[in-house]
Amino acid sequence: MAIGKLPRVRLGEFPTPMQPLENLSRVLGGPRLFIKRDDLSGLGLGGNKLRKLEFALADARAQGATALLTVGGVQSNHTRLTIAAGNRLGLKTFLLLRGEKPDRASGNLLIDEILGAEEIRFVPGLVQVTREKVSPAIEEAVGAWLEELRGKGERPYYIPNGCAPLHGAIGYAGCVLEMVEQLRDADCTADAVVAACGTSSTQTGLIVGAALFAHGELNVHGISVAGSAADLVHRITGQLRDAWKALDLPSPPPEDRIIVHDAFVGEGYGLPTEGMREAVRLVARAEGIVLDPVYTGKAMAGLIDLIRTGRFRSDAVVVFLHTGGAPGLFAKEHEGTFSSQS
Ligand SMILES: Cc1ncc(COP(=O)(O)O)c(C=O)c1O
Repeated sequence: MAIGKLPRVRLGEFPTPMQPLENLSRVLGGPRLFIKRDDLSGLGLGGNKLRKLEFALADARAQGATALLTVGGVQSNHTRLTIAAGNRLGLKTFLLLRGEKPDRASGNLLIDEILGAEEIRFVPGLVQVTREKVSPAIEEAVGAWLEELRGKGERPYYIPNGCAPLHGAIGYAGCVLEMVEQLRDADCTADAVVAACGTSSTQTGLIVGAALFAHGELNVHGISVAGSAADLVHRITGQLRDAWKALDLPSPPPEDRIIVHDAFVGEGYGLPTEGMREAVRLVARAEGIVLDPVYTGKAMAGLIDLIRTGRFRSDAVVVFLHTGGAPGLFAKEHEGTFSSQS
């Protein structure tokens, strides 16, 4: 089916802005840089999940859902935006969060509380934050909660961590169409797009969009925030296969066209690195744009390294995708991450 014909509800402010990063380009002596501001997608403080939720919630509506149940980490951007989207459409939201309930909410969890989910349950140590699949234990907890909600007369719709890969893929293919049109207005075409890679459906969607709207000539560089490149390439290959089938397209790109860099994760998901600190400060000071410590800070550290190691021609056009996440800066876990000057 054609992407434009798939059922979608409007949640975000699209197209999001495309802005030149002339100062950053000059400081890095690099290619022509742009930033695609999906952090400014609007609802619930914005972020990449809104493009995916527009398709997930259309499906929920088609199924007559009265409530949404989703899972994520305590500092999940995805759960924050799921509550905001549910509020917009008049659906109750139920969250199963991995981790201990903190004494006082901060960052995304604080916004979750302000947005007012119907109920938040904490399950210590179960969701793998960067995977749409969850452990068998959490799967069981989800199944039991769905049953409980049905018993109370709700029609709950389950949204996996970070949304179903197909919804991500479709949502982000549309983002590429916006980029192509916006860059045409700036009289150029992009050679590469660089984005954070977590559950990877954003990257999958960018690859679908590159094939559909950029003649496959746009290289998509995913910067891993957690997994190994080999695992992510394997996962993206499967997601691409499913998306290609759903959209009735001929053969998907071969695995060796999928580019994931895993050198910027540091000690693990959400843990600060020096490269991330440098990247967040550099972009803030050169351009006045604020990144986040978990996703876009590490993705920008990756882009800076790719530029410094000569991966792009000096006349190349490179788009950095700002996927949001700034509430994470105010999480208790990141108190002190930027407190020392360097
Ligand atoms: C702010 C932010 N950026 C990037 C990502 C990564 O997107 P994806 O899970 O589609 O790889 C996420 C979520 O995982 C996110 O919350």
